Amino acid sequence: MKAPLSVLFLFTSLGCKAHGWNDRSMVYKFDDIKPSANLTWTPCFDGFTCSRLEVPLDYSNKSVGTTSIAFLKLAGKNATAESPSIIVNPGGPGGSGIDLLLSNQALASLAFGEQYNIVSYDPRGVNNSGPSLDCFSGNAEARTAFNRLHRTGVTNISSASFEEQYYSSSIYGEWCNDAVKKESPHGFYVTTPAVARDLLTFIEAEAELAGQAPSDAKLWLYGISYGTVVGATFASMFPDRIGRMILDGIVDAEQYYDNAWSVNVAQMDEAMGTFSSFCHAAGPEKCSFWGPTPANIIARMDKVILQLQNHPVPISNAQSRGLPALVTYSDLKALFVTSLYVPAASFPVMADILHQLERGNASALVGMFDGQDATFDSGHVIQCADSYRRNKLTSIKEFKSYAEYTVSKSKYIGDVYPIFVDSILCRSFRPQLPDSMVVQGEHLSRPIGLDRPTSFPILITSNTIDPITPLNSARTTSSRFPGSILLLQEAVGVSCSRISSSKPSAIRV
Ligand SMILES: *[C@@H]1O[C@H](CO)[C@@H](O)[C@H](O)[C@H]1NC(C)=O
Ligand SMILES: *[C@@H]1O[C@H](CO)[C@@H](O)[C@H](O)[C@H]1NC(C)=O
Ligand SMILES: *[C@@H]1O[C@H](CO)[C@@H](O)[C@H](O)[C@H]1NC(C)=O
Ligand SMILES: *[C@@H]1O[C@H](CO)[C@@H](O)[C@H](O)[C@H]1NC(C)=O
Ligand SMILES: *[C@@H]1O[C@H](CO)[C@@H](O)[C@H](O)[C@H]1NC(C)=O
Ligand SMILES: *[C@@H]1O[C@H](CO)[C@@H](O)[C@H](O)[C@H]1NC(C)=O
Repeated sequence: MKAPLSVLFLFTSLGCKAHGWNDRSMVYKFDDIKPSANLTWTPCFDGFTCSRLEVPLDYSNKSVGTTSIAFLKLAGKNATAESPSIIVNPGGPGGSGIDLLLSNQALASLAFGEQYNIVSYDPRGVNNSGPSLDCFSGNAEARTAFNRLHRTGVTNISSASFEEQYYSSSIYGEWCNDAVKKESPHGFYVTTPAVARDLLTFIEAEAELAGQAPSDAKLWLYGISYGTVVGATFASMFPDRIGRMILDGIVDAEQYYDNAWSVNVAQMDEAMGTFSSFCHAAGPEKCSFWGPTPANIIARMDKVILQLQNHPVPISNAQSRGLPALVTYSDLKALFVTSLYVPAASFPVMADILHQLERGNASALVGMFDGQDATFDSGHVIQCADSYRRNKLTSIKEFKSYAEYTVSKSKYIGDVYPIFVDSILCRSFRPQLPDSMVVQGEHLSRPIGLDRPTSFPILITSNTIDPITPLNSARTTSSRFPGSILLLQEAVGVSCSRISSSKPSAIRV
């Protein structure tokens, strides 16, 4: 594969369209690649190589069959046969690493340097990797009906909203269980311990391809957000296989496996607070919601929120004969929670919208809350399969205390977060999974973490104000991995927002 690649880069650097002369071997979709148990790289997407690696569905019972995992590689311009591949693990769960690397090619090379190969992948169950599961089996009407029943708005938008969300949540799991039974028998075989095992398969296959001993292969991983759960899980299962590991923007893996998304709200209001100070500092030219003091900006923002809470805005669209809409408080809260992922990029937009709202113009918020409806199930399926033996969110009492907790911690995001992360959807999932695929199974009976150092110390990084994957989770995770180093950046936002997916709404953490 070395020769075609260098030819490819030569042509690209000469400004020629590389696929002009080489159309037939350049592929643009993974379906065009034959899955193989040996790693084989096919030129793809102009400048990358792709592979579909066949892996056992169940590592403890190979007769269950195989599935294939999609990998994408960007060869470093200065990389040699011995150069390690840095695997970028996307967020989610449900995030596509293929999309992430394809849309951040230049950034990735800059971030890591040309002496490395950069690899990303779609974890099991995600997009180009099997096994796939569509809980509504293509029945868009059923999916829409479910969303209408379940996604009623922020927790307390009406007196019945909370109860409606709790009771309707069971519908989702029942559709997923049924789809597994009828159409995708291994649709739940997508848990994070299995993903970690797939990474081991990958690095061993890579070593084999390079003529090195598979048993010595080490993982070089850059995990962001939910990708840090994959990293921490791998490190717990295979502590002697760490080449380098950077975990950036930490999700507390223990909470993740408990389906307890509570620490996530810790820094949300602190992050929202920076909107007022940034807006004030930027000045009226650059921040349309500017005010003479940060306190003035906060007070006006709170007034806009209260106004919308009591007075939803009708958008009739009568003249244009377009669809009518009603902009509600839930739409504004949906704007807030999505903006927090990438404050630097979103705050100016948020300022414009708040400025218009102050003048009674709510048109930018039309459909904002509904726009968060899940159209792909992979994220929920992974999250629910991962937590099903430890799920701490099943009864209405637990759900109520969870929602009250998030509200008590965050005035701005607390009432939208439970329906945004939608962890209650897991309560009626019934995955029948072998022990090898779950925490509290054979590999991970103890908590995530170790009592001895990994083969190379893990680098854990966090922003000082991280609204989604808070600093506290980084500290906790560091304490679970002896020898790990904690690196802080004085910044606001989710660490991974430096390298963000083109589809942030599908990425919950
Ligand atoms: C593919 O892998 C198998 C073992 O899984 C090995 O025996 C075989 O030689 C490999 N084939 C090639 C072409 O590398
Ligand atoms: C392994 O999987 C096969 C096929 O699904 C099944 O028939 C068999 O009972 C499994 N064996 C064990 C030990 O679980
Ligand atoms: C490649 O390596 C050479 C020699 O170490 C160095 O001078 C050059 O700057 C590197 N190129 C890139 C793109 O990193
Ligand atoms: C799935 O992958 C294809 C090709 O990589 C891409 O065009 C598409 O947007 C992806 N879909 C999702 C949901 O990530
Ligand atoms: C209302 O706001 C939208 C987007 O924020 C903007 O495009 C539009 O021009 C505004 N309408 C009026 C009448 O100001
Ligand atoms: C909803 O509002 C009621 C009345 O203010 C309050 O008692 C209850 O705790 C709230 N529920 C949640 C889940 O926040």
